[in-house]
Amino acid sequence: MTAKLIKGTDIGEEILQEITTETTQIKEKYGVVPGLVTILVGSNPASISYVTLKIKTAHRLGFQEVQDNQPADISEKDLLALIDRYNKDDSIHGILVQLPLPKHIDEKKVINAIDPDKDVDGFHPVNVGRLMIGGEEVKFPPCTPAGIQELIVRSGIETSGAEAVVVGRSNIVGKPIANMLIQRGKGADATVTIVHTKTKNLADHCKRADILIVAAGVPGLVKPEWIKPGACVIDVGVNRVGEKPSKNDPQKMVPILKGDVDFDAAKEIAGYITPVPGGVGPMTITMLMRNTLRSLKSRLGIQSGNS
Ligand code: GUN
Repeated sequence: MTAKLIKGTDIGEEILQEITTETTQIKEKYGVVPGLVTILVGSNPASISYVTLKIKTAHRLGFQEVQDNQPADISEKDLLALIDRYNKDDSIHGILVQLPLPKHIDEKKVINAIDPDKDVDGFHPVNVGRLMIGGEEVKFPPCTPAGIQELIVRSGIETSGAEAVVVGRSNIVGKPIANMLIQRGKGADATVTIVHTKTKNLADHCKRADILIVAAGVPGLVKPEWIKPGACVIDVGVNRVGEKPSKNDPQKMVPILKGDVDFDAAKEIAGYITPVPGGVGPMTITMLMRNTLRSLKSRLGIQSGNS
């Protein structure tokens, strides 16, 4: 193994400690804690597991956590009314509606109904616009791209003037991370290329990358020969490729996860690489917590600086 492992579990934990410290200080000084509501519609197993982890993390940090589970057949109108109630609730600083939603509910309408100043996912068009403008304008950077940027910065990787190639053009990862990397400032100032399913010569673009961010959702898409020696490889892919017995409880089956990069071969060429699992994944929840704390701080008129 030549590449240095970028461990999201360790870096995420470091940031969670910082959030805990700040939450305690704010509670002592102002008598309030960040309030986060997670709205889960139905019982999609992956969604339940994500939401459970979000709730557990929020509790650990000393946040007020409201878990609002709704039946799969809730009407769109009732869901929008529920969101409106949390928009008006002063003890709630972050509203998260777990996606995907059942087919009879228009996701876009739901995202648009969330108060942009409580949209800790950063999915509302107002926050997408704020991110595009950059700098002081940014309120809630979307969690996965923000996590990727933190991994890069805290690993001491130079982004200024670097060739960054982003594989994938989703609204949740590809487009926002590319946008963040072209801004001015720390963890940015990169020259960015976005490649996607219609790009010609995918391999040639990847070979130029000093920083290669892969969010395609295709297991093993990026081959080792596409990686520039010494490059920083961030693998956002979390692909369930099978099942295996759990280490703790061999009677229970757990998913086998694989990234978008052929990790075993890539780690011999890259300079830095994120594992799957344990790379980008843990950072998403960490950044959700940071955005919720930021929301409270903004309400209290406290400057956010780094956190
Ligand atoms: N479903 C999968 N990832 C996410 C996320 O980051 N936020 C929300 N709201 N739903 C998700």
